[in-house]
Amino acid sequence: MRPPGHRGVPTTRPALLWLLLLVPLLGAPRGVAAGTGAPAELRVRVRLPDGQVTEESLQADSDADSISLELRKPDGTLVSFTADFKKDVKIFRALILGELEKGQSQFQALCFVTRLHHNEIIPSEAMAKLRQKNPRAVRQAEEVRGLEQLYMDIAVNFSQGGLLSPHLHNVCAEAVDAIYTRQEDVQFWLGQGVDSSVFEALPKALEQADLPRCRQVADRGKPCVCHYGLSLAWYPCMLKYCHSRDRPAPYKCGIRSCQKSYSFDFYVPQRQLCLWDEDP
Ligand SMILES: *[C@@H]1O[C@H](CO)[C@@H](O)[C@H](O)[C@H]1NC(C)=O
Repeated sequence: MRPPGHRGVPTTRPALLWLLLLVPLLGAPRGVAAGTGAPAELRVRVRLPDGQVTEESLQADSDADSISLELRKPDGTLVSFTADFKKDVKIFRALILGELEKGQSQFQALCFVTRLHHNEIIPSEAMAKLRQKNPRAVRQAEEVRGLEQLYMDIAVNFSQGGLLSPHLHNVCAEAVDAIYTRQEDVQFWLGQGVDSSVFEALPKALEQADLPRCRQVADRGKPCVCHYGLSLAWYPCMLKYCHSRDRPAPYKCGIRSCQKSYSFDFYVPQRQLCLWDEDP
């Protein structure tokens, strides 16, 4: 929907943030208004931490009060992130392609579920209003947020997962036996009234350190502590406010973009469920 004759946009535009503007809903001509039931989708080109470029899809559903983000890494892994503001839940999912020539299955799915804090990402109704002026621009996050290391010590029972978040059944359907969370998040959700039948303790607190890291284990049948890392390459993490003489109060006029990496450690009953975790 670029205006004609607008192809040669200079690449040296200084402020990426101005390429993405919050178009006030009343002024939005495209009919993708909140409340129509259909989630709004934004497709952006983003630069990954390793420098490669990929396409990322961001969807916001203001009725369900949720945001989802999806991107494909160059190795074929599909990473998705779902923020469920109603339930204070965020879900990371990775669909990891197996190496068929090594006899691995077609893909393996992992789901990591943790507490969503509402200031981690912009609200869904603001996300639903985002438009971009230049869809071909390669976006790089303005702020790189620190690596977060999470120790996943609890399993989520898939069949009970709807009690935690209605998104879990769709998002984690391929990861039925590999949905992980943390004791500290469980305590919070239990306090919110979530039923305890959703959660199951994993064998042994891993802090006891008597389980080896998978990368140090040769026997494919042995249990171990697996590692998986992923990055959200670009996401709108904050609203920007502008001041104008014509308006009495500051108004929303853009977003700040962030990049954030996560590192997950979790129990696997067999080394072969963690084949990507190898010594560098
Ligand atoms: C999950 O919960 C259901 C219902 O409580 C139960 O029947 C089932 O055994 C649980 N699954 C596992 C793997 O524990």
